[in-house]
Amino acid sequence: MSGSLREGSWNQRLLKLAMESVRKMGVEAVEFDLDPVPLYKAPLDADYPPPAKALREAIAGADAVVLTAPEFNSTVPAVMKNVVEWACRQPTVIPGQVFYVMGCTPGRSGSMRMAEHLTSSLESEGGWVMVTPRVLLPHVDQVIGADGSIIDPSVGELIDQAMARLLDTSRRLKA
Ligand SMILES: Cc1cc2nc3c(=O)[nH]c(=O)nc-3n(C[C@H](O)[C@H](O)[C@H](O)COP(=O)(O)O)c2cc1C
Repeated sequence: MSGSLREGSWNQRLLKLAMESVRKMGVEAVEFDLDPVPLYKAPLDADYPPPAKALREAIAGADAVVLTAPEFNSTVPAVMKNVVEWACRQPTVIPGQVFYVMGCTPGRSGSMRMAEHLTSSLESEGGWVMVTPRVLLPHVDQVIGADGSIIDPSVGELIDQAMARLLDTSRRLKA
């Protein structure tokens, strides 16, 4: 899932590359669109709105969950933080699930602080977050094209390494 809903988002492009990588390994990859998910509101706990219920089921049912996001105001964009808030409500779907955080920005940050903060939030709720290899790309417009293709082959190799490690990690942890 991508924490940027923007049309032409770099993080949506990065997510698609990660999905292509997983599919090359013969594994199903399903994108979950966060656009219809409402902001978390506590009284809804007793009766989750359908998009929030679908989000919780997607997380619970996956072998691993890949999250891509830009950095907003030096932290996690609200769209992505909202995922953690829905997911942690009882019965929480975070503990025992394997997560992987990726990100990119056209600027210098490469989403590093977003990744640190999101990792910390997921871990505090009992999630298993695979931290390395890091795919946190600064100056993303120099390594991924506007059409989503890979300009710098080393980025494609890094994404493949990360996805292979994620599948292996999920298999080991969930065996
Ligand atoms: C509200 C807002 C806050 C931002 N804060 C940061 C930031 O803290 N660090 C950074 O590197 N880029 C920041 N940016 C720039 C984003 O990284 C850039 O817009 C990026 O392209 C968004 O990701 P996307 O292409 O996937 O939509 C910010 C952008 C917005 C709209």
